[in-house]
Amino acid sequence: MANLLCIGAGYVGGPTMAVIAQKCPEHRVVVADVDSAKIAAWQSDHLPIYEPGLKEVVLSCRGKNLFFSAEVERQIAEADIIFVSVNTPTKSFGQGAGKAADLQYWEKTARQILQHSRTPKIVVEKSTLPVRTAEAMERILHSNDRNLPFDVVSNPEFLSEGTAIHDMENPDRVLIGARDTPSGRKAMQAVVDIYAHWVPRERIITTSLWSSELSKLVANAFLAQRISSINSISALCEKTEADIQEIAHAIGLDSRIGPHFLNASVGFGGSCFKKDILNLVYLCEHYGLPEVARYWDQVVQMNEYQQARFHARMLSSMFNTVAGKRIALFGAAFKANTSDTRESPALNVCRALVEERAEVVLTDPYALDHARIDLAKDAPQVIFEPDPYRAAAKAHAIAVLTEWNLFAELDYRAIYQSMAKPAFIFDGRNILDHRRLFSMGFNVQAIGKPPLIHPAR
Ligand SMILES: NC(=O)c1ccc[n+]([C@@H]2O[C@H](COP(=O)([O-])OP(=O)(O)OC[C@H]3O[C@@H](n4cnc5c(N)ncnc54)[C@H](O)[C@@H]3O)[C@@H](O)[C@H]2O)c1
Repeated sequence: MANLLCIGAGYVGGPTMAVIAQKCPEHRVVVADVDSAKIAAWQSDHLPIYEPGLKEVVLSCRGKNLFFSAEVERQIAEADIIFVSVNTPTKSFGQGAGKAADLQYWEKTARQILQHSRTPKIVVEKSTLPVRTAEAMERILHSNDRNLPFDVVSNPEFLSEGTAIHDMENPDRVLIGARDTPSGRKAMQAVVDIYAHWVPRERIITTSLWSSELSKLVANAFLAQRISSINSISALCEKTEADIQEIAHAIGLDSRIGPHFLNASVGFGGSCFKKDILNLVYLCEHYGLPEVARYWDQVVQMNEYQQARFHARMLSSMFNTVAGKRIALFGAAFKANTSDTRESPALNVCRALVEERAEVVLTDPYALDHARIDLAKDAPQVIFEPDPYRAAAKAHAIAVLTEWNLFAELDYRAIYQSMAKPAFIFDGRNILDHRRLFSMGFNVQAIGKPPLIHPAR
């Protein structure tokens, strides 16, 4: 039996440790956070985040071998292995502002671990970090006069929000990096043994610390790059009447390209892609590689262009003015099956339309609470409406911004009847049946597709 602690009870810490607790019943697993309201939510029936299957996993082991605690310091003292899953946002001040990772929470945690440890610990980097952060972590941890040994292991998290539980239960791979020393190898083995409870051994990859740290940034950069690549072509499709979905299908059948991550959309969001690419850009600049930095920076710029293009197209289609027009935005979450709105393109489109003085109504099955907080300062006039039918009533336009299944399954005939005419639909996720909507009377604009516009009568 080992005492496992995770510091940081967020989108990563909560779901990953819940699955570890379920798969390793002999270990005691504690998830600790400075945010006591979040801890109280993890202890309640209303978990602080929505993930399909999460509640079931938490309920199966909470109070048995899974505990949530706001007493970070006491839990550090009792732990054998400490996963650190605190946030590492983009730095907003000083050197590297707007690009580098802000490591203040990370360093604070390292110092806390040092201060409250009385026994040897394995410290596992679960947060996404700049390559060579483990070196700084080791230096902090070894600056103790108690001769306490600490081993730092990198174990980046590859789960995807919306499928976090599935991804944890069936990972493509688990990556573990450590020092190639006797104690480094022992620490690595201890982390391998946790995952080996349910992950086939050939999917548990072990590497150097630096390869492990950098792999996470590179994985996110490659994923985001696919999205920006297909989105860039969607712009060309809109000029040439080629269809981006036909193109994605045709190129995706090439086994060297593959079919995944080829859905053109209003853009990627979430807390990770943008910040991790910017961090990669910063690292390349730091190491004197400006050409590499510029290459990756384009992925983020293309994503911003795609969002700007989307609301500009809404504006020009609606006779160059949306002032005073009701517009229903379907979706606030940055993607389906999550309540997370961080860096959500939906909220960026929302802000742009508010700026144009539209009356914006936002609907989403799970993310309205987060959206309300995000928009409180810069767009307080937005209306939040959980019912999409009510959101669309009397609207001049609907924009689908999150690919929730439920938005594809609505009764659009009834919605059309309730809207102002001419009625527009802008499908920012290409999840609707555009021809059918057109035949109902809608003017339809989708990403990377020829417009379906009824001629003036
Ligand atoms: N969200 C994802 O899909 C995802 C996926 C893979 C990796 N990551 C990475 O994992 C890390 C965590 O991401 P997240 O989305 O879970 O963030 P999050 O903001 O949801 O959670 C981080 C938590 O850490 C807590 N925290 C910060 N400092 C602390 C301290 N000193 N002591 C105790 N708690 C502290 C915060 O209160 C917060 O609850 C980031 O580095 C992120 O890049 C995220």
